[in-house]
Amino acid sequence: MNKWPVHATWNGPIVMIGFGSIGRGSLPLILRHIAFDKSKMTVIDPSSTWSHLVEKEGIAFLKQEITKQNYKSILTPLLTAGPGQALIVNLTVDVGSIDIIKLARETNSLCIDTVNEPWPGFYFNTKLDNADRTNYKVREDLLEVKRKLGPGPTAVSCCGANPGMVSWFVKQALLNLARDMNVAIKEPATREGWAKLMKRLGVKGIHIAERDTQRSKNPKPLDVFINTWSVDGFISEGLQPAELGWGTHEKWLPPFATRPATGPANQIILPQMGLNTWVRSWVPHQEIVGMIVTHGESFGLSHALTVREAGQAIYRPTVHYAYMPCNDSIVSLHELRCRNYELHPRTRILRDEITEGMDLVGALIMGHRFQSWWTGSKLSIAAARRKVRHSNATAVQVAAGVLAGVLWAIRNPQRGVCFPEDLPHEEILRDARPYLGRLVSEPSDWTPLRRHRVYFDENPMAQGDQSDPWQFTNFLFRP
Ligand SMILES: NC(=O)c1ccc[n+]([C@@H]2O[C@H](COP(=O)([O-])OP(=O)(O)OC[C@H]3O[C@@H](n4cnc5c(N)ncnc54)[C@H](O)[C@@H]3O)[C@@H](O)[C@H]2O)c1
Repeated sequence: MNKWPVHATWNGPIVMIGFGSIGRGSLPLILRHIAFDKSKMTVIDPSSTWSHLVEKEGIAFLKQEITKQNYKSILTPLLTAGPGQALIVNLTVDVGSIDIIKLARETNSLCIDTVNEPWPGFYFNTKLDNADRTNYKVREDLLEVKRKLGPGPTAVSCCGANPGMVSWFVKQALLNLARDMNVAIKEPATREGWAKLMKRLGVKGIHIAERDTQRSKNPKPLDVFINTWSVDGFISEGLQPAELGWGTHEKWLPPFATRPATGPANQIILPQMGLNTWVRSWVPHQEIVGMIVTHGESFGLSHALTVREAGQAIYRPTVHYAYMPCNDSIVSLHELRCRNYELHPRTRILRDEITEGMDLVGALIMGHRFQSWWTGSKLSIAAARRKVRHSNATAVQVAAGVLAGVLWAIRNPQRGVCFPEDLPHEEILRDARPYLGRLVSEPSDWTPLRRHRVYFDENPMAQGDQSDPWQFTNFLFRP
């Protein structure tokens, strides 16, 4: 039997909101590595399908939907029950993360979530301008709250695998790249320091490159949307406009792209769904075509890695997600298009029926002397199951980010609202490491032009930009 190391002690109440695939992956890790009184923990979810997993641990399960109307009245008594400061682990869909962070501050609680989630209605509100239902907008709103709240109890926003861990992979990749390029450096201690290092190494682009090869023993039935994590969460972000951190080296702006009118304007927004915006990318050791699904790190990393002079951005890499989900999910997405984006009548998250495959999720850092460099986690289903039974590789990778974020918050309880980019990557990766399978950090000579072929000479766009492989136009997949 495994004897897991206890990394921290927590003396107050713990409230976990949402017990879906990520909640079920995270709870065993929290139980293993944090010493706390289980009778002071509550897990809240409107579905009691998995309540037995909570109750068998002696933890209270509250069958309840958290809404904009009831979140204060339900959560406040739990958070202030004492003795001791409370900890919120927010792992839901459809619960406004900003309001939960504000409530955490009002009740002097620590808080962590994996996504900056709005209350329901935001993503699909076509009455809103395109720019007003973007991740950029919700991040801007959160930054405003961070400014207003100022210093105080720690709230770590967007701390899963991606967003989350991938920001630490980027730092690790830069250090490894500098070493192998024989560039003598001192490890940066600030956002500006990391941005300057990236500029010095000649990086032009970052993909959060993910390929999920997990496969089920059962063929996908019709009318069921299958995924390896939240179907609701995936569809919400997939239907949102594609957004990407926009590099200062880019020469060509995609047609109809807009730049935000307020804030740092470090992103561009495309008036098309992320799930219909495909790009060429690479994970070890295969070229993939992934989707630019909007994600917190497109904003967070590109904002953190901007070098400014006299208030002007003089350097910034292009940053976005390139997600190639599991095969059943790709088929489900195509059926979703056939259904004119009306969700299938049934949904399923794959777990025990998975027979093989792995999730490869990492940061692909491009444009330097080696061309590309991938740093990330290759976690097979078998290795994931050895760590968390009845889970899958995707959920375990995310849970590793949650655990690392919770431990960091407990050790650093007065850091205010933080983002993954602000966290010390070495310390935090150490806590996540046992759950990441093979941690890879290696070069590749991949460029989007390496195997580029033009099939239709009549189409000038098909030529791409042969003068610079790292222009966004070369990544954009044109069928
Ligand atoms: N950062 C990352 O790497 C990462 C990766 C995967 C998922 N996520 C995010 O984590 C969250 C959870 O993902 P998941 O895969 O566990 O989702 P899931 O769909 O499996 O589970 C969500 C759970 O929340 C519950 N829920 C829904 N509405 C609720 C409400 N109003 N109040 C309380 N509970 C509610 C559902 O009943 C469900 O059990 C999602 O927001 C998802 O986008 C982040």
